[in-house]
Amino acid sequence: MPVAIPGLPRTATSIIDLIGNTPLIRLSTFEAGLRNVELYAKAEWKNPGGSVKDRPALRMIQDGEKSGALTRDTIILDATSGNTGIAYALIGAARGYRVKLCVPSNVTPERKQILKAFGAEIVFTDPMQGSDGAILRAREMNAAEPNLYFYVDQYNNAGNWRSHYDTTAPEIIEQTGGRLTHFVAGLGTSGTFIGAGRRFREFRSSIRLISVQPDSPLHGLEGLKHMETAIVPGIYDASLADEDLGVATEEAFELTRQLARSGLFVGISSGANLAAALNVARRSPDSVIVVIFPDGGEKYLSERFWNEEDSGPGTPKPRSGEGPGTPKPRSGEGG
Ligand SMILES: Cc1ncc(COP(=O)(O)O)c(C=O)c1O
Repeated sequence: MPVAIPGLPRTATSIIDLIGNTPLIRLSTFEAGLRNVELYAKAEWKNPGGSVKDRPALRMIQDGEKSGALTRDTIILDATSGNTGIAYALIGAARGYRVKLCVPSNVTPERKQILKAFGAEIVFTDPMQGSDGAILRAREMNAAEPNLYFYVDQYNNAGNWRSHYDTTAPEIIEQTGGRLTHFVAGLGTSGTFIGAGRRFREFRSSIRLISVQPDSPLHGLEGLKHMETAIVPGIYDASLADEDLGVATEEAFELTRQLARSGLFVGISSGANLAAALNVARRSPDSVIVVIFPDGGEKYLSERFWNEEDSGPGTPKPRSGEGPGTPKPRSGEGG
């Protein structure tokens, strides 16, 4: 007779079955001084590929299989700064597809190693052109040999936002018992914000949707896009957000360090999203705020900002000039 252990997950047939159903974690440490605010992080680093991008990657690959565009003879191709690439590489390895990725050469060494470990082929692109350079290269490659590739095109593929409409948002509604009042997510491809946001709008129109962007084109917020100066994703709809908040790299670094000190070792865009969530929380008493934490901290271990002294909670240090963690051109796509 097997022993029933409450909460123990069932045996998975494939690693792919473990994508989604991520926990919601209360950020009690950051609620101090707020007026009756419940603040929760959606722990997307708990996905098997380590990020929120497992969801759209799986959905777009499944759509390709269903439509017949993805076959055993085609190669999965896309432009990615890392996380979507890791997701494609993982799913491709598990399902037996070749994967080719256009990646700005300045992505962190950890990401390059992970992609290689899964057996993906990498085409490095000009770091100064960021994610836009990678997008242009992928388009060229697909145009030159369209029959060779299943060009996923995460920036213009509706499967990207639909994955969040169908999974991320319903999970959050369930996990908060439908009490959610604010949703905060950063914009990379914008899939997370647009997909989950649309679902929340339909669920209850008063839920406030807050998008997050770097506050300048030259930033250190890996995964996020400065829309004003970048190739705008086809799936992005600027009219969905009730508010769009710009976050400074320094503030995101500071909060990412503070999160680690509270036991949550997450990536820089999580710190950026938290900065925006706290901004909202300070002026929103009696609220239930959910903020997306897109990935974990491991892929950013080589970033020098970890080694800086941190100040007290919620007091980012202004800094000038060259120094550890100074913002540099990023692959900054979100994907
Ligand atoms: C670390 C990180 N943060 C945020 C995002 C933004 O997500 P989305 O592309 O759904 O806008 C991404 C996307 O890859 C990411 O990798």
